[in-house]
Amino acid sequence: MPQPGDLIWPEGVSLAPGRIVMGIGTAGPAGPLPRHEVRVRARLATWPRGDLLIEASPIPGLPAEGAAATFAYGSDHHGLIVRLDDGRIAVAVSDESPAWADPAFLQLIAVAAHEPEVTDAEFGVGLLGFGAIGAEHARAVLATPGLSLAGVCDPKPERIQAARTAAPGIHAHEDAVSMLDDPAVDIVIVSTPPDSHAHWAIEALSRGKHVIVEKPMALTTRECDAILATAADRGLLAAVYQNRRFDPDYRLIAACVRSGQIGEIFHAEAFVGGYGHPCNYWHSDADVSGGALFDWGSHVVDQVLDLFDGEVDYVTAVNHKRVWHDVTNADHARMTLHFDGGREATFIYSDLAAALKPRWYVLGTTGALTGDWRELSVVSRSTIGTLEEDVLAAADSPPVVRRHSAAGDVTTLSPRPQEPHPFHADLALRLRYGFAPRVRGEQSRRVVAMLEAAEESARLGGLQVKPA
Ligand SMILES: NC(=O)c1ccc[n+]([C@@H]2O[C@H](COP(=O)([O-])OP(=O)(O)OC[C@H]3O[C@@H](n4cnc5c(N)ncnc54)[C@H](O)[C@@H]3O)[C@@H](O)[C@H]2O)c1
Repeated sequence: MPQPGDLIWPEGVSLAPGRIVMGIGTAGPAGPLPRHEVRVRARLATWPRGDLLIEASPIPGLPAEGAAATFAYGSDHHGLIVRLDDGRIAVAVSDESPAWADPAFLQLIAVAAHEPEVTDAEFGVGLLGFGAIGAEHARAVLATPGLSLAGVCDPKPERIQAARTAAPGIHAHEDAVSMLDDPAVDIVIVSTPPDSHAHWAIEALSRGKHVIVEKPMALTTRECDAILATAADRGLLAAVYQNRRFDPDYRLIAACVRSGQIGEIFHAEAFVGGYGHPCNYWHSDADVSGGALFDWGSHVVDQVLDLFDGEVDYVTAVNHKRVWHDVTNADHARMTLHFDGGREATFIYSDLAAALKPRWYVLGTTGALTGDWRELSVVSRSTIGTLEEDVLAAADSPPVVRRHSAAGDVTTLSPRPQEPHPFHADLALRLRYGFAPRVRGEQSRRVVAMLEAAEESARLGGLQVKPA
């Protein structure tokens, strides 16, 4: 029987020896139920992650009343995390359950154990820049226990108005420095255009604020290093909102690869784009955006680096400028990460792709994964009653992921339920309990190193460039 001391607790999680009693109820009246995915419903004010879906062998027969968390199997409650009167935590899940290896489950147990000692204090978040992504951060902060909206700053009055619509009563600042100096702000989310990320991140860190930077972390590794060094010097958090690490299609692909379902991956292709004029905004101005690869590449390269173990030996890339001469970003760009052992991953971003490639094409030694774009539209009635069809851009809905076996069987994979605001939940858990977040600043620095190397390779006509 495993003992609490045998568990591999996630980084930052600790429980005093003897604080946890495992596996009570293993001899429940109906005997163990077959192993199954079960939903764990936390009843903790300080748990920001919502329900967890874990694989477990739940145990029937314990009362759910007063439990810190309950496990639902079918329509009944069968498993529990209970806080005992003496401060110990009793967990009614069988000793052999794989739930004991699930980092989120272990974090939940630790939160249940520590919750009585944690104050209700919230960490105040200041939103620096309230553009297209602003409302997403406002929604996430408002929905995450442990975080509160302490302020917003944007020079455009219409964006302040948008912030007030998303978060009525929010404290609006006229200039960035006034918000950065506000003692009510503990964390600053920098959502200004990319060429100003490093400046504002360092300004905020220098004033003792934790920092979340929008992607990309910055335009160069030199800037990223300056951000990370300033954070390390002051013992503060600096991380990037790599939200697409939690996209349903990527989570399916990562889960299949990690559980060995397609063997060892050695080749991946990812594509985003279509045919059309790039937007006429800073996104297409290479000096502000970093270039065509930086926007979507900040997400896709992050996913690829998360998927592939090992080192990138060199990067190659090509930029095409053929049609959209009124903007400075390339019209079509291709970069390849060459990993050790000859494994490779290619990302194409295109505004000249009249035919779409799949979002994902991943080959392993025993199978493959594909992610196909959906063609979806939203149909609604206009104010005068006519039907209106809004065709969604391919990238606006998650691709359909399929697993292909070596024998030719094809299985369409069902997405698992989404965690509510997983990045912000990690942030709250990091600030309250010290748990390591899944997305780390160093990972986003590595993403920028690849993008920087790709732009350099493209400038050199596709030569091999070693990332910094
Ligand atoms: N993670 C994602 O999925 C995602 C999605 C969209 C955008 N982004 C990133 O978010 C950032 C912003 O993108 P966006 O699409 O919201 O851009 P946007 O142009 O819509 O918004 C930027 C906002 O920053 C404001 N701003 C500029 N300088 C400022 C300053 N000194 N102080 C305060 N506000 C200032 C502008 O007025 C504007 O409202 C970019 O880095 C982009 O890459 C990320």
